[in-house]
Amino acid sequence: MKLVVTAGPTREHLDPVRFLSNPSTGKMGFAIAAEAARRGLEVVLVAGPVALRTPKGVERVDVVSAREMMRETARAAKGADALVATAAVADWRPAHCSRTKLKKREMAGVLRLVRNPDVLKSVRVPLKVGFAAETGGDVVAEARRKCREKSLAFVVANDVTEKGAGFGTDTNRVAFVFPDGEVRRLPLMSKRRVARRVVDEIISQMKA
Ligand code: CTP
Repeated sequence: MKLVVTAGPTREHLDPVRFLSNPSTGKMGFAIAAEAARRGLEVVLVAGPVALRTPKGVERVDVVSAREMMRETARAAKGADALVATAAVADWRPAHCSRTKLKKREMAGVLRLVRNPDVLKSVRVPLKVGFAAETGGDVVAEARRKCREKSLAFVVANDVTEKGAGFGTDTNRVAFVFPDGEVRRLPLMSKRRVARRVVDEIISQMKA
């Protein structure tokens, strides 16, 4: 069985030394890739810029921007059984990227943005799993919407403002939200244990 995992942030450059990004460290995605490889799956990890070592037995492809992540994930997904998207992909990028460093006199104080592709929505594989990091609001309702809109088997939802959850931490408190409305809440646990539960669910759905 072949699994593709996206992880980390993307960077959307406006010139060679400046970019838009977010604080994703890639820990959750790397933990899932490591666990899946340990369980004998063939794993391709498409990673944005992160400071993590490649897990044993995992093929890693490094990317910078959302468009690169789109291209490499689509390539890796050929013949894959499942895709897990943990990456914090930038939804927007600057409309123009200068080849040389912009001088402040050349900058208008307004940055025009254009939409990036949605990797998880666009890539075609038999089973897709999303992650949804929210900051309050109805986390479950949002996860359900993403399940429908991106044809997902389930969404791993979390509120990144909660203690022990979210960017850069070694723990996470998540809920699996299924398209039929089922919600399975997990207690606060290490990202490694969350990864084990995610891989368990993927393997059991792939066998079903
Ligand atoms: N995702 C992706 N490509 C994007 C945006 C998101 O692959 N351009 C994936 C993420 O990896 C995650 C899931 O989609 O698994 C949900 O991401 P999230 O940012 O929570 O949702 P959005 O679809 O961007 O929706 P919204 O901005 O409305 O919350």
